[in-house]
Formats: sequence, structure tokens, C-alpha cells
Amino acid sequence: MIPTEPPTPDRSIVPAKALGLDPDKEDVVDGIWDRIGPLEGRNRVASAFYDGPGWARFRPWERLFLGLQGGARRARRQILRHLDPLGPGARVLEVGIGDGENLRFLPSTWTVFGADLARNPLLGCIRRSPAMSGRLAWAEAESLPFADATFDACYSVGGFNYYRDHAQSLAEMARVTRPGGLLVVADELPHLKRFGIGHLIGRPKLDGVWLRALGLDLEFAAMVLDFAEDPEEAVVQSWPGAVRHSIWTGLGYCYSATRPDRPGPTPTHPSTLGDLVDDGAPFDRP
Ligand SMILES: C[S@@+](CC[C@H](N)C(=O)[O-])C[C@H]1O[C@@H](n2cnc3c(N)ncnc32)[C@H](O)[C@@H]1O
Repeated sequence: MIPTEPPTPDRSIVPAKALGLDPDKEDVVDGIWDRIGPLEGRNRVASAFYDGPGWARFRPWERLFLGLQGGARRARRQILRHLDPLGPGARVLEVGIGDGENLRFLPSTWTVFGADLARNPLLGCIRRSPAMSGRLAWAEAESLPFADATFDACYSVGGFNYYRDHAQSLAEMARVTRPGGLLVVADELPHLKRFGIGHLIGRPKLDGVWLRALGLDLEFAAMVLDFAEDPEEAVVQSWPGAVRHSIWTGLGYCYSATRPDRPGPTPTHPSTLGDLVDDGAPFDRP
């Protein structure tokens, strides 16, 4: 008799309760778990933008940007490749999943879940990938509605710079990931605006004009101009041993980390953290 491999457990059908979602609450509408609360600060501004017409106006510029990086697959693989060590059948969570643009670049054997604070992109995600129905949560990164250690990996592509609370969302991503699981976060450099003509001639407010022309609404453009935090520093502080990878010809960053066995409190010794690997970015980190 030919010895057979033990069957791989089918992890694609996961009881919602095991994920921390309570099906008895009847809060699934259109295939989306409604776990959104009152939004504050940058999250309120972001949800208005991504749920409104601004994001659709801005999208062609994002596509152009990724096209100049060799196309969507190549540009996104610079980030998603850090999930490759996961085997077949992995269960992963994308935070800020939008309409699921990354799904087509992931192995079809994986079960992907998503969270996002904007509902229209989530609806778009289900339209594009009907299998995502029931696997999406309308929720903030800062308060993920999943049980501890639910996923083999948790990742975020874009949007992270303006998450309301970087440290809290990174802690949440680590919490819902199993010990030894993978963590990835990537975005464009947060201070690219400094290379805008307005900044270069000492009139930074002028850069609001081209940000609006790109499709950003008034509040989102103001938020970008006023933004003074360092999201990368939050990653280095929150995910011990996170490795920095320069992406998109130096215009973006990506951090990959392994979820430690025991999640500790936010580390207070930055000197021991953040093994920086920079692949030759043309711009220094601000
Ligand atoms: C630039 S889009 C990226 C979408 C998708 N990840 C991709 O790669 O195409 C950023 C997404 O993050 C979401 N987002 C922004 N802030 C968030 C937060 N604090 N919590 C959850 N989602 C957030 C937005 O609603 C938006 O859908």
C-alpha cells in the first residue's frame, strides 16, 4: 500500500466564533461584519476620503505610480514576498484591505480575511472576489475584531501612515497573529510632500493645490500637509527585530517581522530594536 500524507486540515471554513466574531449578534450586512465605532482624528478623515468620491479620483494616480514601479504585480510583490514563507492553507489578515487589490497576488490556497474602516471599498472587494463575503470586517486597525493569535500573518499595504494610532494598530496586528507568525507593513515615505514645489520654495501650503488636484479632499489634503509624526519609528518601537526594506525605488518602506512568542508591553529600549536594512533609497528618511 502506498503511504499517504495525513490530510491537510481544511482551514478555509472557519467558524466565525473561532475568529472572535459573534454570529449571534446579527451584525453581518452585505457579507461584512459591522464592527465600526465612532471615528476620531485621522481615521474620521480617512474614512470620509476612502468612502467618498476622492479615492476614486486619486486611484488613477496610484495606478500610474505602481505602473512606473514596473506594474502592480512587481510593485506589490516587493511587499507580499515577505509572506512567502507561509505554507499552503495559511490564514492571513489584510488590515486596510480596501477593495482587495492584493488578493490576486496571493496563493489561492490561502484564506484571506480583511478589515477596513471604509465600507464602500469593502463592498467593492466582495464584488471583485465573492469568496470574501463573510471574511471582511468594517473596523479600525486600532481595534481589530478578531481573537488573539487567529492568523498566520497580518499585513498592511498602504494607508498606514495616516492610521490614527500607529502603535495601537501595530499592537493589534501582533495580537491577532499567532506566535511565530509574520507581520508586514508598508507604505510610501510619509514626507514625500517635502519634495513638493511649495515646500521647496518655502510656501508649504501651496502644495495643497496639487494634492487637491490629485483628488484628495480638503480635509485629507490638510491632514497630509500637517502630518508630522514618524510612522516608521512606531514600527521600530512596536515590533522588535523588524527589518526595513526600501521599496518602490526608495519612495516607500516595508517592514517585516516575526510575531514574538510572548507579546510584551511596548518596548522602551529603541537602541535594541529595528534591524535597519536600506536598499539604497534616493531620499533619506526624514
Ligand atoms: C491606500 S488604500 C490601500 C488598499 C489596499 N491595501 C491596497 O493595497 O490596494 C488604504 C486603505 O486603508 C484603509 N484604512 C486607512 N486607515 C485605516 C485604519 N485606521 N483602519 C483600517 N483601515 C484603514 C482605507 O480605508 C483604505 O481602504
